[in-house]
Amino acid sequence: MSGHTLTTTPGETASGAPPAAPRMLTGDRPTGRLHLGHYVGSLANRVRLQRRYESFFIVADLHMLTTKNSAADIAAVRRNTTDMVLDSLAAGLDPEHAVFFLQSAVPEVAEISLLLSSLVTVPRLERIPSLKEMARDAGKQEMPFALLGYPVLQAADILAVKATAVPVGRDNAAHVEVAREIARRFNRRYRPVFPVPALIHGDVPSLPGTDGQNKMSKSLGNAIYLTDPPQEVHKKVMRMYTDPARTGPSVPGTIEGNPVFAYHTAFNDRPAEVADLTERYRAGTVGDVEVKQKLAAAINRFLAPVQERRTAFSADEGLVAELIVAGTERTRREVQRTVADMRDAMGLTAAFTEFRRQARRTSSAAEAT
Ligand code: TRP
Repeated sequence: MSGHTLTTTPGETASGAPPAAPRMLTGDRPTGRLHLGHYVGSLANRVRLQRRYESFFIVADLHMLTTKNSAADIAAVRRNTTDMVLDSLAAGLDPEHAVFFLQSAVPEVAEISLLLSSLVTVPRLERIPSLKEMARDAGKQEMPFALLGYPVLQAADILAVKATAVPVGRDNAAHVEVAREIARRFNRRYRPVFPVPALIHGDVPSLPGTDGQNKMSKSLGNAIYLTDPPQEVHKKVMRMYTDPARTGPSVPGTIEGNPVFAYHTAFNDRPAEVADLTERYRAGTVGDVEVKQKLAAAINRFLAPVQERRTAFSADEGLVAELIVAGTERTRREVQRTVADMRDAMGLTAAFTEFRRQARRTSSAAEAT
């Protein structure tokens, strides 16, 4: 997988906010196991960046509520969080280094979101295409209030830990832009409190689904999971969509937009084999079966060590619970400091402090008489 691009310097400051130690925040909603699309789109990048930053990973269950809020959805959070953390460790995140936290267990994030919400307008949020897509995908006729505020809540997550870098996929880029605007606006209007977080996006195009749709996604049922056993991977690959115009092995085929070759490029560790298959596919001298069998083998070679690590981590009972609890407590302490900074910068602390002082004076004066 190729490198990543920084759109801004990490720790860029607006109006002289104190430069912060490089810290990254990223994460996912707890909706299920991770698949190859997650690996290409975000996990690989996280693994590569984890040591360059103090690394925070959010399990964004409050974000999940913006589209999925049934009691059953919420009851599944624990299982899904466990799976996501195990998948992340299996993919290479270091449990000694990564800080995992559960968003809803840091209630100050909601307070920060509220305080930030006065720094952004409704039309600004209405112009974000990903929100309309999420509403549509969730079958909503009208935009839920919470979903319109999704980027504000995400800004709250990011600014709550004063992150300097946010590695996310394309679909989240507009949200990070909102966070950057809000940080600058807060710093200008009140006092420099936040570093302006840099967006870090991978160069990789998103991985298509096994059905050739432009995105691998659990809800579309076109995903290969990190936990799929070899026979399952084989079955999914053999059923994969290829070049629909290719009616037989002797018909020249097209590589561009062909998911089988997109996966070969992303996962096959034998470039000579990929080059050979590409050439013969174009010439019409190789059958789909051979191309797919080699792909299934390549994906299974890629997944073998991932699944081995996952087995080892899940044998360590209580590991995920300990990571989540320690990570959440650690994060909550940081976030409480941030809220105090914000309230102080905004002058929200001052009014009540004055009232309290006055009330104390009044009551002691009353006692004296
Ligand atoms: N919006 C992300 C998603 O698509 C999840 C998320 C919530 C997030 N808060 C974040 C990502 C903060 C990066 C930083 O699921």
